[in-house]
Amino acid sequence: MYANRRSYLIHYKSKFEIERMRDAGKLAAEVLYETSLRAKAGVSTLELNDFAHQYTIKKGAESAPLHYKGFPKSICTSINDVVCHGIPKKDEILKDGDIINIDITVKYKGYHGDTSKTLLIGNVSEKARKLVEVTEKALWIGIETVKPNVRINEIGTKIEEFVSQFGYSVVRELAGHGIGKNFHEDPIIPHYKNNEVRILMKPGMTFTIEPMINEGTFDVIIDSKDKWTVRTADGKLSAQFEHTILVTEEGYEVLTLLK
Ligand code: MF3
Ligand code: CO
Ligand code: CO
Repeated sequence: MYANRRSYLIHYKSKFEIERMRDAGKLAAEVLYETSLRAKAGVSTLELNDFAHQYTIKKGAESAPLHYKGFPKSICTSINDVVCHGIPKKDEILKDGDIINIDITVKYKGYHGDTSKTLLIGNVSEKARKLVEVTEKALWIGIETVKPNVRINEIGTKIEEFVSQFGYSVVRELAGHGIGKNFHEDPIIPHYKNNEVRILMKPGMTFTIEPMINEGTFDVIIDSKDKWTVRTADGKLSAQFEHTILVTEEGYEVLTLLK
């Protein structure tokens, strides 16, 4: 999809736009936080979806995933071997020992905020805990590379070098992305070690970093029926964390922190 692209159309954000991105980012963080509090054994993913949707609407914002390229719900809920883009369902009930990624994207006053985290439901196995902990750390290692004049491929390179020490793999088919008025815009942010996206980070760029880290192979399979749900090819676990980032003069600002 992008491996050989050489040119990008990047929307550098003005001061005004950065203010709006901050507002959208904060709201996404708040929706994620409030929804996370409701993720417990016995709760369905549809209940989480409906809560997040109502909360978003009440704040005067929209759920960006709803009807995005035909996606049927307002949030993504991805359990265990589901890598991303899981569709909330009435009959999908969280159970003790699950890990679940909740991914929230809001559109607020014309701009997007996109953030996700993987939660532990009840008593989770030591190996699942470890995967989730390493994945969160991997996101922060990616974030800490962000600084003007550093190449985008540095992000994935640092992430892959870190997680490979634990024997984990980095999903290659899905990436972080520029974000602003558009849910997804240039540039693409690979999370694996690469030499493809060599453009330099510059102040005013806004993009997500959202590594999907697998216990086993990085290969994934898209559900043949719903055409959305992405699963690990070997059925092993996958975890993900995501923040929306602004490149500043000094380094970075994480736009999707709670406060
Ligand atoms: N929020 C996801 C991301 O981080 C995208 C979900 S697209 C959807 O990029 F259509 F599945 F909602
Ligand atoms: Co994203
Ligand atoms: Co997201």
